[in-house]
Amino acid sequence: MAESIAFSKTSDRGIIYDEIAPQIESLIAGETDLVANLANIAAVLKEAFGFFWVGFYLRKEDQLVLGPFQGPLACTRIDFGQGVCGHVYSTREAIIVPDVEEFPGHIACSSASKSEIVLPLFDKSGEVFGVLDVDSDKLDDFSETDLKGLHAIIKIVQRSL
Ligand code: SME
Repeated sequence: MAESIAFSKTSDRGIIYDEIAPQIESLIAGETDLVANLANIAAVLKEAFGFFWVGFYLRKEDQLVLGPFQGPLACTRIDFGQGVCGHVYSTREAIIVPDVEEFPGHIACSSASKSEIVLPLFDKSGEVFGVLDVDSDKLDDFSETDLKGLHAIIKIVQRSL
């Protein structure tokens, strides 16, 4: 297993997503433990982009429960339909929230969080089994580039299931 990742020192996130995707692919190749793989992916995303908070919530019975993450401590349980994460779980659609204060029902785990992007994770049968949540301490910090780059990373996870 690689012990570190390499990526360009650039503010162009598209370049960095393209560079880290194949490294994530080899990082999780040969490891079947989902939590271990998600933990390393959270670490890679934190290191590559310096995101304020990046992590996963995983479906456990009738709630989303905090999974592997990097950043300040976070809410442990989110009901389906609640907050941005629960909304994405229920709608099965990724979302960019440029200003969390404008999102009805946003769950403020940290008052420093200003914008966020959340994507659903699908299992082999097409059910959502969790979400990837990335938070920024800047307003309007996420774009289609993040959506595309994070989607590519999620596809790697889904293929590994
Ligand atoms: N803001 C999220 C909750 C998770 S934390 O930000 C880490 C939400 O509204 O679902």
